[in-house]
Amino acid sequence: MTLTMPHLSDAELLARIQQFHWFHTIALRPGVVTPGLKDQQVMALEEDALLAPFDLTGRSVLDVGAWNGFFSFSAKQRGARRVLATDSYVWKHPVWQGRETFELARDSLGLEVEAAEIAPFEITDQLGRFDVVLFLGVFYHLYDPIEVMTRLRQVTRQLLLIETHQDLTAEARPGMVFYPAATLAGDATNWWGPNPALMLHLLLQLGFTRIFYRDHPTLGRGHGLYAAFLPEVEDGLILQLGSPWRDLDVPGAIEDLLVRG
Ligand SMILES: C[S@@+](CC[C@H](N)C(=O)[O-])C[C@H]1O[C@@H](n2cnc3c(N)ncnc32)[C@H](O)[C@@H]1O
Repeated sequence: MTLTMPHLSDAELLARIQQFHWFHTIALRPGVVTPGLKDQQVMALEEDALLAPFDLTGRSVLDVGAWNGFFSFSAKQRGARRVLATDSYVWKHPVWQGRETFELARDSLGLEVEAAEIAPFEITDQLGRFDVVLFLGVFYHLYDPIEVMTRLRQVTRQLLLIETHQDLTAEARPGMVFYPAATLAGDATNWWGPNPALMLHLLLQLGFTRIFYRDHPTLGRGHGLYAAFLPEVEDGLILQLGSPWRDLDVPGAIEDLLVRG
């Protein structure tokens, strides 16, 4: 049940916001914004790159690793019929207190967004299937991302959207770098850096038939965005997937990506 918080003044809401750490910068009211590690411009560019190409009106959306909920809220505001936000690691974390931040933001916005405390490796088809699944900034945090991708395939009806850190990006052969013991950015939760060829072939192996790729809007090829479609995709879901998105599942696409950048 979503609550609105008309009883809080702007100053009271700001004081609540300041009790927490934030990853997402979210405008909750005019002039009342969460102080996220990702600033408002990066959030807007990511939102535009990831969600603007699609018509979410009336769709169901699963957000895996939602943290403060920015992309779940955006999907709902873009007309999604049902949005389920899931997370576990930061939602249960004593410092990040992600569940509390998600609920504060959701209730301030007054949005009907569902929440379930589920880790990616706990997702099963018991959740049902969702037209669109968001898997943003999570792949490289998982020790066994391939097992989780298999689970995500089971709950995706049309489109799986992925954002991930990448490595080996000058290599045409599918590959991933393993980062033991906090060797990527000093963060022990970073495990893998896949390249576009790896993501393409993994997604094809899982049964996705059309795979589009673009570099991250601010991080370049160091992070990649993937839109992977199942054969069941409805025509109306895609509004515009023009440049800089590229069709990866055509002969020579990976080589072209390496040569033309
Ligand atoms: C970089 S944040 C991405 C948040 C949001 N999806 C976005 O794109 O802005 C990583 C997310 O992955 C989740 N996660 C899931 N499993 C994790 C794990 N084993 N270690 C660290 N983070 C994990 C975290 O809880 C967090 O929400």
